[in-house]
Amino acid sequence: MSSPGRAPLLVASNRGPLTVVAVEDGDDEIRRGGGGLVSGMQAALSATPDAVWVSAAMNDRERTLARQAPDGRISELPQVADALRGDFDVRMLPIDGPTFRAAYNGIANSTLWFVLHRLYDLPTQPAFDASWRRQWNSYVRFNQAFADALASAAAQGATVMVQDYHLFLVPKMLRDLRPDVKIGIFAHTPWVAPDDFAVLPDDVARAVVEGMLGADVLGFHTERWAQLFRETARAVCGRDAEGVQVFPLGTDPDEMQRLGGRRIVDGELRVLNDTVGDRLVIGRVDRTELSKNVFRGLLAYRELLRTRPEWRGRVVHTVFNNPSREDLPAYREYTARLERLASDIDDEFSTDDWTPLVFDIGDDYPVALALMRRSDVLFVNSVRDGMNLVVLEGLVLSERSPAVVLSRETGAAEVLGDDAIAVNPFDVSATAEALHEALTMDEADRVARADRMRAAAVRLPPTEWFQAQLDAF
Ligand code: G6P
Repeated sequence: MSSPGRAPLLVASNRGPLTVVAVEDGDDEIRRGGGGLVSGMQAALSATPDAVWVSAAMNDRERTLARQAPDGRISELPQVADALRGDFDVRMLPIDGPTFRAAYNGIANSTLWFVLHRLYDLPTQPAFDASWRRQWNSYVRFNQAFADALASAAAQGATVMVQDYHLFLVPKMLRDLRPDVKIGIFAHTPWVAPDDFAVLPDDVARAVVEGMLGADVLGFHTERWAQLFRETARAVCGRDAEGVQVFPLGTDPDEMQRLGGRRIVDGELRVLNDTVGDRLVIGRVDRTELSKNVFRGLLAYRELLRTRPEWRGRVVHTVFNNPSREDLPAYREYTARLERLASDIDDEFSTDDWTPLVFDIGDDYPVALALMRRSDVLFVNSVRDGMNLVVLEGLVLSERSPAVVLSRETGAAEVLGDDAIAVNPFDVSATAEALHEALTMDEADRVARADRMRAAAVRLPPTEWFQAQLDAF
């Protein structure tokens, strides 16, 4: 048992609330990471004196700065703008580069993410060999570094909220070091059936489940994922998972309106309107992420234009992709395939006065917000998705009472229910039909559905979502 620190409330996540970016003159600047989740947890942390957020340094720049900071507390560095200082400590762990990369790229993103989203191409993948085992050992060390840091920072009886699949082993490791603390873990991903989870080597499957069961409260976005975890725990460890609870993360309408209503977004909306005119817009905003299924989404749009030529010239599909996990070859190849397919669609259908597809890969958030404001149809067809917050944000932002075409394999499908048009993400033809149904939905029906979906989308905004977990112990 290690001796207590001062923090009564701690959050642990791989990607933290502060990131280090290179600015033009070669200097480092520390910025606040975007996203509703950061602001949601921030409220509770700021209200608790001495609260700490522990995260990983994710590149050389961040490791260098984290090593310079007292105890890794980069929130204390002079480069941190006043706006970011003071509310709570941010402690970045300078885990060495090879260990970080093996844990993050090799295990978290190429193994656990793939298992939980069922992304493997099974005839050849996965192949758990000796080099994979070395990566797994790095993941164990990476998790141990977090557990050690949390154990030394946590006050007696503190509450520690661990986030996501990068840190699945932390709850048990921390429990062994500090039996006095309260531990929560939240899986932002989906979960899978025991047979799918059994892809993992037996000892690894057991380590993951037992690691998570070290927590008092295990949070999932939906009852479906929670139930699959219970079944997996029984199959893998013969244990009843107590403490499993459901907290469906929603969006904060005020925050989204504030972000979406900025002048810069108005400007992007004007640019978009120049292209789309008064045509109907099928909008989607994603990361360039295999699980998002943009590939079959484009196939479905192509099939819509082929089988229902009446839509040619009357609809535009706008696809905004935020680059993601570009260190992984599979992601780079996937992105290249998307670009080829997008250009094929453009070649097949575009005319002098109609752009059928606006396909954008970039990280310009105002463009994404403008697209959500302009969408008549919001389109999400993920292979599998823990929640899919974007569709909830789109419902709040769209100025057109949008129809929603939504993969039934998303957590959001449980939140939005029958008001969304549910699709099997593998059925391209059915998806094309669903797009047609969305585009032709009777207006009164569409408005009524959008109103109900908007209400569902904001039921548990990030601040309340986090507080509900703190109240669950
Ligand atoms: C998902 C995960 C998060 C992760 C995010 C971005 O939403 O659940 O834990 O932070 O993707 O991925 P990245 O690898 O860029 O952190």
